[in-house]
Amino acid sequence: MSRYVTTPIFYVNAAPHLGHAYTVIASDVFARHWRQRGEDVFFLTGTDEHGEPVALAAEKLGMTPKALADQNAVHFQTLGPRLGASEDFFIRTSDPRHVERVQEILTRVKDNGFVAEGTYEGWYCPRCADFKTESEIVDGNRCPIHKIELTREQEQNWFFKLSEFEDRLKALFDGQPDFVLPQRFANEARAFIDRGLHDVSLSRSKLTWGVPVPWDPEQVFYVWWDALLNYVTALSFAREGEDLTDRFWPATFQVIGKDILKFHAIYWPALLMAAGLEVPRHILIHGFLLMKDASGEETKMSKSLGNVLDPFEIIDQYGSDALRFYLLREVSFGQDGGVSVDGFVTRYESELANEFGNLASRSIAMVRRYLGGELPAGVAADPAITAELDPIAATVAEHIDAGAPSAALDAVWQGVRRLNRYVEESAPWTLSKDDAKRAELETVLVTLIAGVRSTAVLLHPFIPVAVEKLLAALGTPDVSLDGATVGAVPVSAVEELAPLFPKAS
Ligand code: ME8
Ligand code: MG
Repeated sequence: MSRYVTTPIFYVNAAPHLGHAYTVIASDVFARHWRQRGEDVFFLTGTDEHGEPVALAAEKLGMTPKALADQNAVHFQTLGPRLGASEDFFIRTSDPRHVERVQEILTRVKDNGFVAEGTYEGWYCPRCADFKTESEIVDGNRCPIHKIELTREQEQNWFFKLSEFEDRLKALFDGQPDFVLPQRFANEARAFIDRGLHDVSLSRSKLTWGVPVPWDPEQVFYVWWDALLNYVTALSFAREGEDLTDRFWPATFQVIGKDILKFHAIYWPALLMAAGLEVPRHILIHGFLLMKDASGEETKMSKSLGNVLDPFEIIDQYGSDALRFYLLREVSFGQDGGVSVDGFVTRYESELANEFGNLASRSIAMVRRYLGGELPAGVAADPAITAELDPIAATVAEHIDAGAPSAALDAVWQGVRRLNRYVEESAPWTLSKDDAKRAELETVLVTLIAGVRSTAVLLHPFIPVAVEKLLAALGTPDVSLDGATVGAVPVSAVEELAPLFPKAS
């Protein structure tokens, strides 16, 4: 089965921050998990380089938008690899192949009768690049996200006839109730549609930094249409001489933060329908990472608010696995969640280092100490433990397919905790002192190693670096999900393992 997972393409107006990292990490977990199941996976991320957010930032710095984009795109291109993310392609919307495809598709939208000339008058947030409806505005004509005063815009331009899609969008939400996940965001989008849809600018006349409108060179396309189309255009040129569109479109999961719900849940499917393309299977929404500000109040972490926690600093000190684990465990996917350095350190030490790292190290160390590093063949794992661990893989797969990575991680962690209790209950250090208990000792250690291997396989999408080290020490590097069944991949000998999550120096 083919699976296509995308992240938003990020504005290159500043450096990547933890919020971007969060989306990329969650998306990577889906991609890695599906690869473990042998699915045909494509994972896309990239940068959004046109429009006001970038043009204004460049102006402030006295640079051309393209120079700023070139400079900052690099930081986003290195973000994925530094997070341990496994994207298959990185798209930049300034890529001429993207520009050409956008022109083609939007010309088709016009040919299909969904474009009209008009005048826009209303409120606009240049940071969101969003024409706000009255219901989206907060006290004193401010942007609810960026808190800045909105500008009054009046311009003559081309419009996309979004209003004509009201019924079709309602039918989409009724017929595909899991189109937007989690459910409460579907309700939010549906309520927006129910308030009535207005046509939206398709082009801008005041801006030059964008994709030129082929039938009106005085204008460029409104950045959101250009940006949204990346998800489709990328497939046509990501692989030299190959068009992946039929293989991967429609996307399985389009992962986004809730700030850009309207664009993905409403504008995007309408645009696809207007272009005669299929809509994605799921738009998967996550909440905001929040940071405590000086007054102790939690606010959205954002480049424009300047309250960011640097993912690169954390990675330099603790490694990418630690960041991946912390974010997915701390911030329940779909909800907002507060993050902090203290919270990070606590989870690193108590969960990653003690509960998992230590379980792995001591299991291996005991096999070396009591059995000379070799596990006897033909000894079965304790059936009680097997019965508790084996169902976890299916639970994980279900949660992942439902777009719930935090729930998946929680299910595996129950297994990790069960194994920690098993070590204490079975006390191999006591068994080892009694020759008559040799068979029992062997069973306990076979069970432990098989159990550790099982949970490690399930943890691979979350903490790939540590899991690969651990599986190498067990002499069984294959991470396919079938191997999560306890004992399915027998371990015959173990090698010394350095601490997976050392105390930071
Ligand atoms: O909106 N918490 O780009 P952007 C969680 N270019 N996630 C966060 C976050 C936070 N505090 N801050 C940012 C754009 N994100 C457009 C998208 S897509 C066709 C065009 C993540 O750089 C989250 O995924 O402002 C959010 O949706 C995205 O970054 C916005 O990134
Ligand atoms: Mg933003």
